[in-house]
Amino acid sequence: MHFKAAFGYLLFITTVAEYTTATTPIVLWHGMGDTCCFPFSLGSIKKILQEKIEGVYVKSLKIGGNLIEDYKSGFFIHPDKQLKDACNQISTDPQLTNGFNALGFSQGAQFLRALAQRCPNPPMKTLVSFGGQHQGVFGLPECPSLSKQSCEYMRKVLNYAAYEKWVQKLLVQATYWHDPLNEAEYKAKSTFLADINNERTVNQTYIDNLQKLERFVMVKFLNDTIVQPIETEWFGFYKPDQDKDILPLKESPLYKEDRLGLRQLDADSKLVFLAIEGDHLHFTDEWLDEHIVPILKN
Ligand SMILES: *[C@@H]1O[C@H](CO)[C@@H](O)[C@H](O)[C@H]1NC(C)=O
Ligand SMILES: *[C@@H]1O[C@H](CO)[C@@H](O)[C@H](O)[C@H]1NC(C)=O
Repeated sequence: MHFKAAFGYLLFITTVAEYTTATTPIVLWHGMGDTCCFPFSLGSIKKILQEKIEGVYVKSLKIGGNLIEDYKSGFFIHPDKQLKDACNQISTDPQLTNGFNALGFSQGAQFLRALAQRCPNPPMKTLVSFGGQHQGVFGLPECPSLSKQSCEYMRKVLNYAAYEKWVQKLLVQATYWHDPLNEAEYKAKSTFLADINNERTVNQTYIDNLQKLERFVMVKFLNDTIVQPIETEWFGFYKPDQDKDILPLKESPLYKEDRLGLRQLDADSKLVFLAIEGDHLHFTDEWLDEHIVPILKN
């Protein structure tokens, strides 16, 4: 009897210990032309994270139910719809109830930020944005995974008709197309980015929810040939009315007027800016291990 009691007690101790040292789960969101689970992309990131962080639960978001839909979602499912799907997956996953860290790749990064703003439960703790386009893009020099003709076609549609209603509905990239020569039109007609960046009205819910982040890490790829301008990866953009000179985040009205709460996050030392030499999403396992894994461990 004594033995049984002691054994039960031991079991209890181990369970509590496991619970209290449990690592924060991780949610991944892929970029355009990618999926949740390709072994050469997020599949391998998931593997590395699981090797480096013992026992960590990693969920790589698959939008639309299967791999083909997930791939297509990156081009053709409006971010609002994708966000509802993601919010539903995250809020019904029992492993995530106490919160999670989030890693977004390319456009997946701005989608995860939108998720933090629109879907606060369970809470996102640290958000790491890899080459995310938080102020949108103006230009599409390359289209990962698409043929040259499709890319050419997409570029034409974006250049000539990004703010047409049908294009906003049809093409994900149009919803974060940011034309600095037409700021007013962007603000009025972008159906996704202008909304989550509080360009039209200030949605206090977005500000309040974003403040709940413990950390917002933005990784910029210094030699990115896919994202224009590169500064959007640090939430900066072109100065209005031209497409050469850059306005860094801290000099932008968005920051100065604190329309999104970024200045407050910065004052609370929650914004982290990382730069890495290399092209879009090019980083090594060693870099990930050195710069990102420690952030995810505590
Ligand atoms: C602000 O954002 C929340 C969360 O997405 C949404 O429910 C609400 O309708 C928005 N409010 C306005 C005024 O757009
Ligand atoms: C990458 O960009 C940085 C900053 O612009 C520059 O200093 C560096 O020389 C570039 N590296 C390569 C390999 O082009």
